[in-house]
Amino acid sequence: TERMLPVEELTAGPMVADRASEVTAVLLLLLLLLLLFTTWRQRKQSHIPGPFFLAGLGPILSYSRFIWSGIGTACNYYNNKYGSIVRVWINGEETLILSRSSEVYHVLRSAHYTSRFGSKKGLECIGMYGNGIIFNSDVLLWKKVRTYFSKALTGPGLQRTVGICVSSTAKHLDNLQDMTDPSGHVDALNLLRAIVLDISNRLFLRVPLNEKDFLTKIHNYFDTWQTVLIKPDIFFKVGWLYNKHKRAAQELQDAMESLLEVKKKMIHEAEKLDDELDFATELIFAQNHGELSADNVRQCVLEMVIAAPDTLSISLFFMLMLLKQNPDIELQLVEEMNTILNEKDVENIDYQSLKVMESFINESLRFHPVVDFTMRKALEDNDIAGTKIKKGTNIILNTGLMHKTEFFPKPEEFNLTNFEKTVPNRYFQPFGCGPRSCVGKHIAMVMMKAILVTLLSRYTVCPHQGCTLSSIKQTNNLSQQPVEDEHSLAMRFIPRTK
Ligand code: HEM
Ligand SMILES: *[C@@H]1O[C@H](CO)[C@@H](O)[C@H](O)[C@H]1NC(C)=O
Ligand SMILES: *[C@@H]1O[C@H](CO)[C@@H](O)[C@H](O)[C@H]1NC(C)=O
Ligand SMILES: *[C@@H]1O[C@H](CO)[C@@H](O)[C@H](O)[C@H]1NC(C)=O
Repeated sequence: TERMLPVEELTAGPMVADRASEVTAVLLLLLLLLLLFTTWRQRKQSHIPGPFFLAGLGPILSYSRFIWSGIGTACNYYNNKYGSIVRVWINGEETLILSRSSEVYHVLRSAHYTSRFGSKKGLECIGMYGNGIIFNSDVLLWKKVRTYFSKALTGPGLQRTVGICVSSTAKHLDNLQDMTDPSGHVDALNLLRAIVLDISNRLFLRVPLNEKDFLTKIHNYFDTWQTVLIKPDIFFKVGWLYNKHKRAAQELQDAMESLLEVKKKMIHEAEKLDDELDFATELIFAQNHGELSADNVRQCVLEMVIAAPDTLSISLFFMLMLLKQNPDIELQLVEEMNTILNEKDVENIDYQSLKVMESFINESLRFHPVVDFTMRKALEDNDIAGTKIKKGTNIILNTGLMHKTEFFPKPEEFNLTNFEKTVPNRYFQPFGCGPRSCVGKHIAMVMMKAILVTLLSRYTVCPHQGCTLSSIKQTNNLSQQPVEDEHSLAMRFIPRTK
């Protein structure tokens, strides 16, 4: 029997092991159920779809997508995958992407979302942290600064704007041969940038500057802005990654500093100032009275000068491309201009009466926008259509997608019938609305009309064979931009015969 013992043990062994594995299996199953139940409960509680947390892997994956594919592209991906409200993470922070008009309109008009988000170190790198207007999230200071922008961009100045737009455009068109390459093509985007920079300077600063040199600096500054905006802190510690971007931002800031020195001298030496003070003069006075710091004044003027070259010129470029792809619309536009120009010259026409032009601009901003999303931050706990928003949540409004998914009869087509019927405000927000909307929205419309009328009454443009909006390479990090290779942005400017 002594010999049997080990045998019994041997036989008992596997039985015990069997039972043990059964118990573990049941326990594991229970654990899994509990896990599923809690995640399901959490999802029920927040109601917000989005990628799973997955022990921290989710936030890393969604952040990577934002960094690698660009903010705009990532937003469209998530809205298309999860619906019109999505919760993702950017740099570990909960971020909601909204693309339905009811939610977007709520955020736009609310006073709880007048702040923006972005990396602190990144914004410091480009001088926007707590300074300027565009990404200034010091709400009290932003409010003060915004009144100066509003004053310069609305009201009686608008009539002066038309005159300056017409003469700047005409001047650059007169010198078109300087920008024409041997094959007879003009880099249309750069031409438009030069026109728009000249206009901005004549409106807001009025100091002579080297256009080409300054445009390069604006371009590099924008590149840095895109690069640093949502980067993790570690990026700013790696010199070889970061230094060239820092330098690019600094160059424009230094150039602006010098222009302001010249401006101060001009003010000092002027016998008598105009009745209408320009933006830069108003800000310099505010600095002299101790209202604004020198850094803030420099940043405000910088942002005022880059705003149009970074947005409006690219919008106009897209419009020229779209016009070539829709010759019947070009015909309609020219007909409308001829009727109105018959009686008056370009400077004195009634811009309100350019209805086809306005529909064309609207439809272009809808169909192929430069700015197709905006970044905000919740300043208070809030409730949007039943969704609880915690204070501090990042918000991205995906207006570009909103314009292609709601209301419009032909959302995926470029067609003026989309603006035949009056479009209720909430469905069309190319500039945003409410307290933190584009402060230049009115002047931007006036500028686009004046430049287009001047340009199109003299020239018709012709891109390279086969170059269309859908064939040229584009990126969508901070805004939608064509990739600058000489070939695809070049157009021939053919004089129109009356
Ligand atoms: C086609 C041209 C333009 C488009 C599509 C455009 C669009 C926008 C959008 C969508 C915003 C964000 C609004 C929001 O967060 O709700 C914005 C902000 C802003 N825009 Fe424009 N914009 C254009 C031209 C201009 C021009 C010409 C200026 C000035 C000369 C300008 C100055 C600004 C400023 C200063 C802000 C920041 C406002 C703030 O944060 O308080 N924009 N723009
Ligand atoms: C164009 O859009 C603006 C809103 O940005 C709107 O006020 C205007 O009525 C629209 N014009 C036309 C012709 O649809
Ligand atoms: C625009 O829409 C109208 C009305 O549906 C249609 O007749 C027309 O062919 C469309 N235009 C283009 C260029 O597709
Ligand atoms: C912008 O996004 C594209 C992808 O569309 C990427 O290749 C590019 O490097 C990004 N540029 C910047 C400055 O972030």
